[in-house]
This record gives sequence, C-alpha cells and structure tokens, in this order.
Amino acid sequence: MKRTRTLILDESARTGVEEIDQQHQSLLNLVNDVHLSLANCETSVNTRSIVQELLGYSIHHFNTEESLIKERAISADEKTAAAAHIAQHRQFSRQIVSFQEKLLKREYVDKEELLAFLTGWINEHLFNADKALEKLLLSGQEE
Ligand SMILES: [Fe+2]
Repeated sequence: MKRTRTLILDESARTGVEEIDQQHQSLLNLVNDVHLSLANCETSVNTRSIVQELLGYSIHHFNTEESLIKERAISADEKTAAAAHIAQHRQFSRQIVSFQEKLLKREYVDKEELLAFLTGWINEHLFNADKALEKLLLSGQEE
C-alpha cells in the first residue's frame, strides 16, 4: 500500500471552537482517505463513494460554520467578511460536484488535479480563511 502525506489539524490552525475544530479534523481525514484511495488505485466506485462522503460532510460542516458566522457577524465589515467566506464554501462545493459528476459519468479525472485542488483548498481555507474568523467565531462563546 502506498503511503501519502497525512493532513493533521495542528495547533496553529485551531479556531478554539470545539465543534468546528473537530469537524475540520474530520474533513482532513476525508481528504486523506481520497489521497489513499487514489494512491492505491482503488476502484472508481470506491473513489466516488469517498468523494461523495467528502461532499456530504463538507456541506454539513459549512452549514455549522455558516450558522455561527451569520449569527456573530454584526458590523458591516464582519458581514462582508462572512459573505466572502461563504462564497469560498460555495466555490469548493461546486468544484467537488464537478469532479463527482465526471467520476459518475466515468469521464477522465486527473488524479493529480483532484488531489492538488483538495490539498490546496483545505490548507488555504482552514489555515488562513477559517483562522481569520477565529475572533468572530469565539465572540459568541460562553466564558
Ligand atoms: Fe470555512
């Protein structure tokens, strides 16, 4: 079995909101599963089912995160940042749907492109975009 780089949510990427941090680690685990599936040349049925799971879980996680963001964004700047953040989630979902449609139609999917997209997006989003919302996400938490 081939080994791939395992993505782990390190301390610097934690938001401090337990539910969000746990969901982020679950998302990273699913991206790791996609890596493994492709690296080990598993059947396309397996890859499709993992990508489907990643898509479903991403939507679940985005719903959780977006509820908190919308609830806690009060100022105009915060609302603008929230809208831009939510747009990033939509762009990710659209891209995954597009990969999934190709997999379902048994069209050619460039594995490197899929992995580069997943790793690049997740790193950029979790370690920068979500981290940038840390203060906002924590603002409604009980002391
Ligand atoms: Fe996010």
